[in-house]
Amino acid sequence: MYDFETVRRRSGRGSGKWNDLARYGVREDEDIIPFSVADMEFVTPPEIVEALKHELDTSIMGYENPTCEYLDAVCSWMRERRNWDARPEWILPSPGVVDAFFEAVRTYTHEGDGVMLMTPVYHPMYMAVNMNRRKLIDCPMTNTGTSYEIDFDLMEKAASDPDTKMLILCSPHNPTGRVWTRHELECIGDICLKHDVLVVSDEIHFDLIMPGHEHTVFASISEDFANNCLVMTAPSKTFNIAGLQTSNIFIPNAELRAKYLASLKLHNPNPKCNILGYCATEAAYRNCGRWLDECLAVIDTNRKVITDFVSREFPQVRVHELEGTYLLWLDLNGLGLDYKELERINREEARLFFDEGYIFGEQGRGFERWNIACPTRYIHGALERMRKAYSK
Ligand SMILES: Cc1ncc(COP(=O)(O)O)c(C=O)c1O
Repeated sequence: MYDFETVRRRSGRGSGKWNDLARYGVREDEDIIPFSVADMEFVTPPEIVEALKHELDTSIMGYENPTCEYLDAVCSWMRERRNWDARPEWILPSPGVVDAFFEAVRTYTHEGDGVMLMTPVYHPMYMAVNMNRRKLIDCPMTNTGTSYEIDFDLMEKAASDPDTKMLILCSPHNPTGRVWTRHELECIGDICLKHDVLVVSDEIHFDLIMPGHEHTVFASISEDFANNCLVMTAPSKTFNIAGLQTSNIFIPNAELRAKYLASLKLHNPNPKCNILGYCATEAAYRNCGRWLDECLAVIDTNRKVITDFVSREFPQVRVHELEGTYLLWLDLNGLGLDYKELERINREEARLFFDEGYIFGEQGRGFERWNIACPTRYIHGALERMRKAYSK
């Protein structure tokens, strides 16, 4: 029913992801798209476009706060899609999730405190720790070949250090594509409760779940967990509206909420989202469920096309199972190339523009993160270029 074929070329329009193509001299007639930064190459859902047009026609672009209808749309989506009964008063809108986890680090920890990360992981999480002069407590996950497991003994040891105050949890996990099971989340939550470690759960990819997998909102597991966490969500990844800068931070614990607000005022005295972001979010959560279901089917097709091709043509390459997100994690170490040479071949010979695995931490060397939220024909084109370049 929806259009997942049209691509709007974004070169020269402020998209860093697209401008990379120009840097490498990609011409328009090569018909190449980038597969890096996590926004989609799908056009905006029509229900959102219509709602925005209506807003422009009928409202004034003044200062706006979230309305009761907005908060209700967010909570209803959570209830219907994720079986989580969130209350409107828990929600603090924020222009971004990255802003919010930086703020959480500043609010609840002091210089020198330990913050745990489950690595390899989304690179701004390292920045939130290091730039705020906190101590990075690395909890590397175990690569099982085509997936990752959590080393709970290691995590418990890290959490039991009295200096460790926070875990930034990436759920679903970027870049590995893991969707943590309820049991895994229970183990994480129990360890954190036992050792008084606050959980900052970045769930921005919570809607992007592949068939056969189930996302559990961390705070939905128990009241104790809810009182020991922040849950960070957004419609931005789900509906491809990151540029509208609207996300929702849930803080069920009133004391933690008050602390966050007080700290936020200090660093950003007038924090506001924008009127069009609220409008698009409400339209998305009320009217775009079917668009999302179709979008997930396209992503799942792309995943299958790549997985089948790679297992046939490049058995040395391992495609990690994509349980959630639209970011496929490929291990190319089996090709025996240095990771910098791999980057060069991809860009210069195969004309493939991925996010290089090493930006997510040392363990990511020799991996590529492939953003597969694009029309399937571009996946076919990319695989052909990969075949040509690598068979050399
Ligand atoms: C795990 C994760 N958190 C946060 C973000 C970005 O969030 P925002 O644009 O709301 O700051 C991304 C974007 O890729 C992400 O993957």
